[in-house]
Amino acid sequence: MADPHLDLALTVARAAGQILLRHFEGALEVTTKSSPLDLVTSADRAAEAAILDALRRACPDHSYLAEESGLSGHDPEDGPLPPPGGLRWVIDPLDGTTNFAHGFPHFCVSIALCDESGPRVGVVHDPLRGETFAAARGQGATLRRGDGEPRTLAVTHKSALQQALVATGFAYQRATLAANNLAETARMVPRIRDLRRAGSAALDLAYVAAGRLDGYWEFHLQPWDLAAGALLVQEAGGALTRIDGAPWRLGVADVVAAGPELHPALAHELAIAREARR
Ligand code: IPD
Ligand code: CA
Ligand code: CA
Repeated sequence: MADPHLDLALTVARAAGQILLRHFEGALEVTTKSSPLDLVTSADRAAEAAILDALRRACPDHSYLAEESGLSGHDPEDGPLPPPGGLRWVIDPLDGTTNFAHGFPHFCVSIALCDESGPRVGVVHDPLRGETFAAARGQGATLRRGDGEPRTLAVTHKSALQQALVATGFAYQRATLAANNLAETARMVPRIRDLRRAGSAALDLAYVAAGRLDGYWEFHLQPWDLAAGALLVQEAGGALTRIDGAPWRLGVADVVAAGPELHPALAHELAIAREARR
C-alpha cells in the first residue's frame, strides 16, 4: 500500500518550490552562518516556515528537524531520528543556497519522513525544471513532472570508472578542515569520465537515482542534505555507504552513492586518497 505521507510530502515540497521561484532572481536578503561561505537567504526562511506550517497542521504528533530552525515538535529527542514509534520530518527548505544566491539555476527542496530505522518517505523537488523525485521505503523511486505519470527510476549499471560521470561537493568549512575533499578529488578526476560540482547534495543523489550521474561522494553533510536523497538512491537500486564502506545511517556526515557495480571502485579510490592524506 502507498505510504499516505508521500502525497503530503509531494504537495508540501511543490508549494515550497513555488515560494523559492518567487524569490529567485528577486531582491534577496542574504546573511552568513557557520562561515563566510555559508549563506542563508530570505527564501530559505520563507520556504522553511511554509513547510513547517503545512506539515504541523497535517501531523501535529510528529517531530521536525529543519535546517534553519532545528528540532521541534512532539518528542524532540536529540539527533536526526525519532525515538521508537515516533515519526520525524527532516527538511532542507533550499538545498543549493549558494547557487540560489548567485542566480545559478540549480537548487531544490528536500523533505523526508523518518522513523526509528531511517528515511521512509523522501521527496526532492526541483522547481525550475518542474521535476519531483519521490521514494517510499520498499516501494521504489519515481520522477514526476507536473501531473504526468510517475516514471520509475533506476541507477546505472556501469563498472568502469572511465565511463562514469560523478559528482561531489566541498564543505563550507573547507578552508580550515584537514579532510577538505581535495585529495579525494585529485585522485578521482584523472580516473573518471568527468566530475560535476553542481551545488546541491540532494539533487546529486536524486540524479544518481535517475541514472543521470553514475556516482556521488561528499564529506561533512547534514541529515537534511541526505535524508530524502539517500532513500531515492536505495529505492532506485543503488549502493549507498559511508566513504570507508561502513553502512550508512541517517546522522553520519559522509556518503558514497553509486550503481552497485561502480560503488566498489569509487570506494576503493576514495580509500587510497584517504591513506595518502595520512
Ligand atoms: C549544501 C549543498 C552543497 C553541499 C554542501 C551543502 P545548502 O547545502 O548541498 O551541494 O556541497 O555541503 O551544505 O547549504 O545549499 O542547503
Ligand atoms: Ca543542504
Ligand atoms: Ca539548505
